[in-house]
Amino acid sequence: MTAPGTREELLRLLRREDGDYLSGEALSRALEVSRSAVWKQIRLLREHGYVIEAIPSRGYRLAETPDSLIPAEIQADLGTHLIGRELVCLQETDSTNARAHELGEAGAVEGMVVIADQQSAGKGRLGRRWTSPGGVNLYASVLLRPQLPPRCAPQLTFVSAVAVARAVAAISGLPAVVKWPNDVLLGGRKVAGLLNEMSAETERIHYVILGIGVNLNMSPEQFPDDLRYPATSVATETGAAVSRLAFTRILLRQLDELYQLYLDQGIEPILKLWQALFPLQGGRVSVDLQGTLLCGRVEGLDGDGALLLRLDDGRLERILAGDVRPVAEA
Ligand code: BTN
Repeated sequence: MTAPGTREELLRLLRREDGDYLSGEALSRALEVSRSAVWKQIRLLREHGYVIEAIPSRGYRLAETPDSLIPAEIQADLGTHLIGRELVCLQETDSTNARAHELGEAGAVEGMVVIADQQSAGKGRLGRRWTSPGGVNLYASVLLRPQLPPRCAPQLTFVSAVAVARAVAAISGLPAVVKWPNDVLLGGRKVAGLLNEMSAETERIHYVILGIGVNLNMSPEQFPDDLRYPATSVATETGAAVSRLAFTRILLRQLDELYQLYLDQGIEPILKLWQALFPLQGGRVSVDLQGTLLCGRVEGLDGDGALLLRLDDGRLERILAGDVRPVAEA
């Protein structure tokens, strides 16, 4: 029998060669297993979608990694301090936020991430559904345990919004922007949504869950007909499929960096980064407060992230939740 971890170690060795061949003998020596055990592991990796070339006189070469969201691939040389140090990757679940709640209650470490290939009951904001077909997008929930009072929890929405917008821009080469409070847009259409939830007592946060849904390779036909805001995917905007694995790694690194910045320096630098990605700053918008519609000009954000809206009658409104849309200037 081969020791547990042999496959991960084999992958690590093949990756280290950076596209060069590694002989079966060298692998069997490094892994301290027989040549036939090496061969068996290579066969299993191929069954999981890895393309491993073999040339009798030279050995093995890792030519392609599958686009599957599995811990070993996501974590390989990830280099983050907190985010993703523990990963739970599921084939299908109702909602990654629901799984993260369970794990949070059971004492999971800060930085743990739950990822699902598919969600049967993905949760959106305000009780809506998040369409979550398999094999195409990213559905992730990040568990954080900041030692802060519960009133600070909404600030973390801005941390995740900037991280997602940066990751979408990096993978697509296109400018991604944010829409208050927690959407990310590409080409003016919604490409990602954030649903942050928390468990707390009066003075203390137990944990916060950053729920992140990013439409990566979803095709236009896969979107529901009754969308409240026009939606898109990265592949639709760029015309090419993107690697979910590469995107996930970029996103976890961005979250790690920005969460650390938030812990070190507070919300101010995060709000500055967010505002630089917010094209509606100063623009005319309508805000739907679940039934009541307000119209005015965006003055900016309050220190806690509330939207400051200058109404047409001159009053300044502080808005904590609602759906914002741009309105054509008269
Ligand atoms: C929105 O309404 O815009 C927020 C959508 C958030 C969806 C993500 S997908 C991963 C996580 N799990 C869920 O059930 N929802 C969030």
